[in-house]
Amino acid sequence: MAQAQLLLGQILTFAGDPVVAGPAVARHEAQGGIVVADGVIVAVGPAAALRAAHPAARVVDYGQALISPGFIDAHAHYPQTGIIASWGKRLIDWLNGYTFPAETAFADPAHAAAVAALYLDLLLANGTTTVCTFATIHPGATDAFLAEAGRRGLRAICGRTAMDRNAPEGLRDTARAAHDETRALIGRWHGRGRLGVAISPRFAPTSSPEQLRALGALWAAFPDCPMQTHLSEQPDEVAWVARLHPEARDYLDVYEAAGLLGPGAIFGHAIHLTARERARLAEAGASVAHCPTSNSFLGSGLFDLAGLAGGGVRVGLGSDTGGGSSFSMLRTMAAAYEIAQLRGQALHPAALWWLATAGAARALRLEHRIGSLAPGNEADLVVIDLASTPAIAQRVARAGDFWEALFPTIMMGDDRAVRAVWVAGVPVARPG
Ligand code: GUN
Ligand code: ZN
Repeated sequence: MAQAQLLLGQILTFAGDPVVAGPAVARHEAQGGIVVADGVIVAVGPAAALRAAHPAARVVDYGQALISPGFIDAHAHYPQTGIIASWGKRLIDWLNGYTFPAETAFADPAHAAAVAALYLDLLLANGTTTVCTFATIHPGATDAFLAEAGRRGLRAICGRTAMDRNAPEGLRDTARAAHDETRALIGRWHGRGRLGVAISPRFAPTSSPEQLRALGALWAAFPDCPMQTHLSEQPDEVAWVARLHPEARDYLDVYEAAGLLGPGAIFGHAIHLTARERARLAEAGASVAHCPTSNSFLGSGLFDLAGLAGGGVRVGLGSDTGGGSSFSMLRTMAAAYEIAQLRGQALHPAALWWLATAGAARALRLEHRIGSLAPGNEADLVVIDLASTPAIAQRVARAGDFWEALFPTIMMGDDRAVRAVWVAGVPVARPG
């Protein structure tokens, strides 16, 4: 065993899901620690006990900073890095006006590699150590992303976005090409080190029933792969799907009919759902990625976290970069808080933190590897300075307890709060 390292700071662990069970399942240790060796977490607990049990460990003392699992982003589009914060459109016009032109450029693998590198550096600067992202229809864009993620030692999931209708020339494939090229990517990358390939039909409006069925058949052959797509983000989109699919009971039914519903499915957004769809998502063991900065930025609507999580659906947070307006999971937590407030629900800081770590891991079915400070889990960590700006520090100075000290960073924090990032037990040299 390589020399163990003992990281000291405040730590937060969860005995359950605080979104459903409440904040009492969270356990805070003001003087805590984590022992890391050979890329994994070996022990977690009070600092004094860990010092006694691991006298030979090299100590890294982070003082009052919070040592957390690295953030996990359950839904993103790395090719949209360059069009983040594009003004004035809603979903369908935004896709046609900004997204599709930007994605066309990923036919060039050198462009894809450059954007992937920039994007991953931004993620690490923001403390995100795992992402599940769409690429574009070009297989080289998935190759480029996974190569860059692998170079950084990251656990990452990426998928070739399939679209064979209602997309511009140059961004349309066929059912066969989507199947065969995704199949080839699975062969090249899935399960290689910490990398995975997601079967990724963009959404029902841009995939013919034939293409959805081809990808459903591929998923049946590779059930260990995640399957990611979009569901019921905006009312116009839902109405369009109903016109395209008069035979379907609802939007989710289009996916189910093609074999694209089950454990391992991750549906982005899922805002405008029927009661049947909610129940079916839970029953099928599917996951939902809540993308709150995107939902307010594109004017999509107010996600019902309490209803879905309370109904048994696995929910994690996603940035949805670049429909989402940030690379930061702190900013994403803040937006989730604001959207819940607009629904009359106040999300506890424990619930927000969980959704960006253990909850997102659970949504990706990776909870036994990442997302919590549990012995045996991979040592992907973010160390958070809880007084990173004067505005935050003055508020924290008045805090009565740990949650009051954490919440200002959730609401006002950004990459300046990220003091250190560890990937598989190794500290990352901070980009920039
Ligand atoms: N629905 C289909 N494609 C997309 C996308 O790229 N971003 C968002 N926000 N919604 C989508
Ligand atoms: Zn998306």
